[in-house]
Amino acid sequence: MDDTQLGELTAANPELAALRDEALSAVAAAVGGDALEQVRVHFLGRKSRLTAILRSIPTLPPEQRPVVGRLGNVVRVELEALVEARAAELAGASLRQSLAGERLDVTLPGQLFPLGHEHLISQTIREVEDIFLGLGYKVAEGPEIETTYYNFTALNTPEEHPARALSDTFYIDLASVTGTSGGAQGTVGDLLLRTQTSPVQVRTMESREPPVYVICPGKTYRPDLDATHTPMFHQVEGLAVDENITMADLKGTLHYFAREFFGADRLIRLRPHYFPFTEPSVEVDVQCLLCGGAGCRSCKNSGWLEILGAGMVDPNVYGFVGYDAERLQGFAFGMGVERMAMLKHGIPDARSLYENDLRFLEQF
Ligand code: DAH
Repeated sequence: MDDTQLGELTAANPELAALRDEALSAVAAAVGGDALEQVRVHFLGRKSRLTAILRSIPTLPPEQRPVVGRLGNVVRVELEALVEARAAELAGASLRQSLAGERLDVTLPGQLFPLGHEHLISQTIREVEDIFLGLGYKVAEGPEIETTYYNFTALNTPEEHPARALSDTFYIDLASVTGTSGGAQGTVGDLLLRTQTSPVQVRTMESREPPVYVICPGKTYRPDLDATHTPMFHQVEGLAVDENITMADLKGTLHYFAREFFGADRLIRLRPHYFPFTEPSVEVDVQCLLCGGAGCRSCKNSGWLEILGAGMVDPNVYGFVGYDAERLQGFAFGMGVERMAMLKHGIPDARSLYENDLRFLEQF
């Protein structure tokens, strides 16, 4: 409302002019949304003096009616706009105030969530894999539920071999699983939990043409439980089949592996042994990690620790997979992952790997 209008209003209706004045300062003085709302109701509400004056226009002397009608509305619109502006101002101020007061220190340490990591056995498998991937090997996998054919027969293991005994192998009683009596689905004794990763050798050669360079990590099962055995454990199998492979290649490969895994100047030695699927077969030892070969309790004073079984692939195995035994030679090896991890980290009891005690597992 400009000065001319104000002069006109004051002359026509001094009460309204005074009311406007009063309202202007009340709006400006209102602090907080509630107070402002009270001011709005008081000056603009249905029961306000302004509303009463505007309603009473018809009863005013005729010469006052147009002036009060026109300027009364100007006052109403002016006050409404002012209330709205003041509301926005107050909201801004309260936001600024809370921003200033509730300061967030982004440098404070956050809430800590326990962060897990790979189990030592998974780490060890990865480590072994990395070493052989570096030599050009591929990773192959096979099923944990196997047939006697892959786990024993095709690995040149005779029917009377002790490893096939019920006491050394978890056979799967299909009848108890399916509720039927074996029948077409196989008879009891055909299926087992693989006792070794060696069946993956057979599956790999069945499905790939030579040359083959693979390692096969995975879970294996045997009914043993003591400080050095758990019924579920892990192995990493290795298989190399090509032309002109000799035992020198096996020895060089395992020596390289031992140095990569256990440390730069580890020596290994090969001892004659017997496995059905290799000929000749060896057991491989690494120089004792505790005494370095001088002899201690850990190595039973021999200076050596057994780490794996290996050998040159028996030509009979090539017969099972249709490989040409005249043209091809190869070597194979198999290591227990738990044993490797225990040797490397000085773990006295294999069972502690699977008791899920975080105080133990967090060390690795
Ligand atoms: N499968 C054998 C075991 O579990 C270990 C083994 C020995 C694997 C000689 C091989 C091998 O591939 O050539 O005791």
